[in-house]
Amino acid sequence: MTCRTIILNYDEATAPEREAGLEKAAAIIRRGGLVAFPTETVYGLGADALNPEAVGQIFTVKGRPADNPLIVHVADLDQAAASTTGWDDRAERLAAAFWPGPLTLVLPRADGFPDITTAGLSTVGLRLPGHPVARALISQAERPIAAPSANLSGGPSPTRAEHVIADLNDKVPMIITAGDCRVGIESTVLDLTLETPEILRPGFVTAGVIFEKTGIRVTMDPALNTARQNYAESGWKPKAPGMKYRHYAPKAEVIVVRGPAERIGPEMKRLCQIETAAGKQVVEWRLNELSPEKAAFELFDRLRRADLEGADIILAGTVSQTDGDLSFAVMNRLLKSAGYHVIDL
Ligand code: TXA
Ligand code: MG
Repeated sequence: MTCRTIILNYDEATAPEREAGLEKAAAIIRRGGLVAFPTETVYGLGADALNPEAVGQIFTVKGRPADNPLIVHVADLDQAAASTTGWDDRAERLAAAFWPGPLTLVLPRADGFPDITTAGLSTVGLRLPGHPVARALISQAERPIAAPSANLSGGPSPTRAEHVIADLNDKVPMIITAGDCRVGIESTVLDLTLETPEILRPGFVTAGVIFEKTGIRVTMDPALNTARQNYAESGWKPKAPGMKYRHYAPKAEVIVVRGPAERIGPEMKRLCQIETAAGKQVVEWRLNELSPEKAAFELFDRLRRADLEGADIILAGTVSQTDGDLSFAVMNRLLKSAGYHVIDL
């Protein structure tokens, strides 16, 4: 599918250009087209969540497996509550604490959502994004917007304007860019249909912060830990369907070098010498020297840049992550990009 893409650079546009651009984007959504737009986590590829043909195009353009449900983005609490039959006190408290922001709440879906949006599940993932452009687009479109990350399926999520343009230019009618996404990894997905809510995908909003701000105790989908330890033989069955796919995979082979900080440097040096001698182009990342916030912000851009630079092998040094904090979320994405190839020191 090819088409001419209108690109609105929101940061550089004048106020009238912004207004006209957003109106155009909302009109595209209303008539069943796709618009890529910035959020605070990663760029999203949006369509009218209530229009099955429009949502179908998202799957086609991304090459996304049909069993992977989309997150439905809303502009306010009323739209969220109207999208589920299960808006309750817990949802209310979580929304008050974290919305607008990088948290997706999985709740029983309301009638009216087409099966394709939720991949046939009886639940819907709802998120009120923190980025003002995302919220303006949803409210002007006057309907909830289904949006996965705006990358081609299997590749790293787009966190910068050039990523989304590289993946989607000439494939969608409109792209709105607004520089770098502040968080850099996708939202935390929290299943609220269970008695004890469960994190299905770790993200910037951690279990610790959820408890601190709301008093609600949440657990992690046990599949997240199984995968970490023994992916190949684990019989891994994550509850968020998207978590089972090989994701974020660059062309380069990613090898995670994990262990105590003082052993990472020498081991990476040793591996680098071996691979370089074999004629491989190697890049070395000392993620262990970055804060988890910075590692999250940079990870997807680093993966894309390594490919552009023609790297064959990425050696990614990391310390063992602490369960439940942001480094766990970063490690979750890194392990997927590495196809779970880890050297534990
Ligand atoms: O930060 C984000 O969440 C970004 C921005 C654009 O909002 N979106 C995003 O969407 O990452 P996507 O489609 O790339 O990932 C959605 C994840 C998948 O793992 C999917 O399986 C899960 O959320 N998910 C969505 N709806 C669900 C549901 N009803 N039950 C369980 N998991 C669900
Ligand atoms: Mg995605």
